[in-house]
Amino acid sequence: MSVKTDAYVVFGNPIAHSKSPLIHGLFAHQTKQAMSYQTYLAPLDQFAVSVQGFMQLGGCGANVTVPFKLEAFDLAQTLSERAQVAGAVNTLLFRDGQIIGDNTDGAGLVRDITVNLRRSLQGARVLLLGAGGAARGALLPLLQQLPAQLCIANRSVEKAETLCALAASFEIDDVQLSVLSLDALAQGGVGQFDVIINATSASLQQESVMIASDVFASDCLAYDMMYGDVATPFMRMAQSAGAQTADGLGMLVEQAAEAFYLWRGVRPDTALVLAQLRGDRQA
Ligand code: ATR
Repeated sequence: MSVKTDAYVVFGNPIAHSKSPLIHGLFAHQTKQAMSYQTYLAPLDQFAVSVQGFMQLGGCGANVTVPFKLEAFDLAQTLSERAQVAGAVNTLLFRDGQIIGDNTDGAGLVRDITVNLRRSLQGARVLLLGAGGAARGALLPLLQQLPAQLCIANRSVEKAETLCALAASFEIDDVQLSVLSLDALAQGGVGQFDVIINATSASLQQESVMIASDVFASDCLAYDMMYGDVATPFMRMAQSAGAQTADGLGMLVEQAAEAFYLWRGVRPDTALVLAQLRGDRQA
């Protein structure tokens, strides 16, 4: 008897250290799905060829990570609304020879904050740091939670203004949109925020956006989309201002769960998987 195993991969370069095979392997085991999930190191100039080759071999779907999310956006013949807004694709579905592009990053962020960390975004004053791909991917899912305020701060203020204009174009009533410079944030006196999300890549350079301590509301959640073995510089700064902090490991697991659901129609229990990953990290 032969059992057909549906094959999935994550395309990236580099990709060897991706946690996605572990996460999806745990999801598959838990939900009893007959599937495989592996890394796929696509040559930097051969992303499209790699995807098409994988499809022709019978691949069922894929995740896409750095540096291919924009190319995946261009390659997909059909895009979900959230992928269109994000301007990037992290999940591919193959249907009848067609490539469908979606983006589960923002949904993963919102689910980690609202479900795992039990912080409501509805009516919250939210500060989004950054105006690059990660911030843009979070924009629509954040707005759909109906925060009272969404303020975007970025090193280059023009990019924050462009992202703010995109947010305004969704015409989601009752969300007050604004832009701040990093200088203003460092000086303080610009109001308080209940949730501050770091979507800059500053942590990769072991740097942090500086934020005056009066910007953190008394029970502020400071969320860094990055994660590592130790707290990021942004998290350390927020901790010293008295904020609760979280890294992006939960977002990683939740965006994976959303992709898994798109492919398999089954929602895995992410809490078990997140607990295991956090345990592995401490081990
Ligand atoms: P990503 O896909 O990770 O979002 P990106 O699109 O290159 O990457 O965007 C990087 C973001 O991090 C930008 O908002 C960038 O600010 P600029 O638009 O002004 O370049 C921000 N960023 C990167 N390094 C930073 C640093 N050291 N301090 C503050 N912001 C930084």
